[in-house]
Amino acid sequence: MRSAVAAFGLAVMAFGVGSREASAQGSLVVYCSVLVEWCQLASNEFERKTGTKVTIAAKGSGETFAQIRAEAANPRGDVWWGGTGDPHLQAAELGFTEPYRSPLLGELHPWAVSQAEQSGHRTVGIYAGALGFAFNTEQLARKKLEAPRCWKDLLAANLKDEVQISNPASSGTAYTAVATLVQVMGEEPAFAYLKQLHRNVNQYTRSGPAPARAAARGETTIGIMFMHDAVAEAIAGFPVKTAAPCEGTGYEIGSMSIIKGARNPENARKWYDWALTGEAQALGARAKSYQVPSNRSAPIPPDAPKLADIKLINYDFAKYGQAAERKRLIERWEKEVGALPK
Ligand code: G6P
Repeated sequence: MRSAVAAFGLAVMAFGVGSREASAQGSLVVYCSVLVEWCQLASNEFERKTGTKVTIAAKGSGETFAQIRAEAANPRGDVWWGGTGDPHLQAAELGFTEPYRSPLLGELHPWAVSQAEQSGHRTVGIYAGALGFAFNTEQLARKKLEAPRCWKDLLAANLKDEVQISNPASSGTAYTAVATLVQVMGEEPAFAYLKQLHRNVNQYTRSGPAPARAAARGETTIGIMFMHDAVAEAIAGFPVKTAAPCEGTGYEIGSMSIIKGARNPENARKWYDWALTGEAQALGARAKSYQVPSNRSAPIPPDAPKLADIKLINYDFAKYGQAAERKRLIERWEKEVGALPK
């Protein structure tokens, strides 16, 4: 009898310890707005290192912003990792994300820190990448078309239905493109340009990198997206090349934020600190994502487009990451461009 009680006691103790351990490691829900291969690799590595069970939900930047807004009263995600910076800034301004000063801030490039400072430390830069064109060299040759070098080249009459870009409501990439054109040309000429471009657009995709995949496979001749997304396709062996627009182009500061009311705030901060390390950021290139990492010690992948060789505009993140401005520009695009008949 005694021994039975003792055995029972031991079992309870063992169970108690086990469950305490499990809840110490706990779980984490990451809303992921980079390519899914990188989401998967990062979550596996984090799980391996910490024992924390990670659930990933992969969606574009605009879509994730909309989801976080819709769930604000009952948040389901803990960390929003990746995606263009503008909607992260918008989420910060609207109070959907938590301030957090990571001890790793001092290891980051100034552009990543300024993203944090601008948002009252509700977001931070994790990578950078420039917007540009991808073109399928075989399709161009077959159709006897010139490779595009400038924004204005995309309006050529012989490019009808040859260009693909994402939809700025769902995709941070396309929003970066709209905001870039507004900054390069001025708002009225930019919208006149987008209306003309509409004739040459075969599809507005939901996700930003989709036009790079389509250009690689010859499903579109030209794509507009972040150049690193097309570099990945070229390395995979597809006949696709990139160009940076001659008039100047915009760029993203891919960002990360902790969702307000996160159910696993401690693990969210653990992920946040880990994701800012050089070691974690080096995983991007392993997953064939060739952005420029924000930690100064993370190697810049040799295949990453060289930002110093690209005519980058001085993208005004403070203005174009403003909630009212982003909403206004997207609504204007939907009304004046997206709704146009083909
Ligand atoms: C790709 C790029 C990222 C970018 C993201 C934005 O994953 O590699 O650099 O931040 O697209 O996605 P979205 O669908 O919001 O345009």
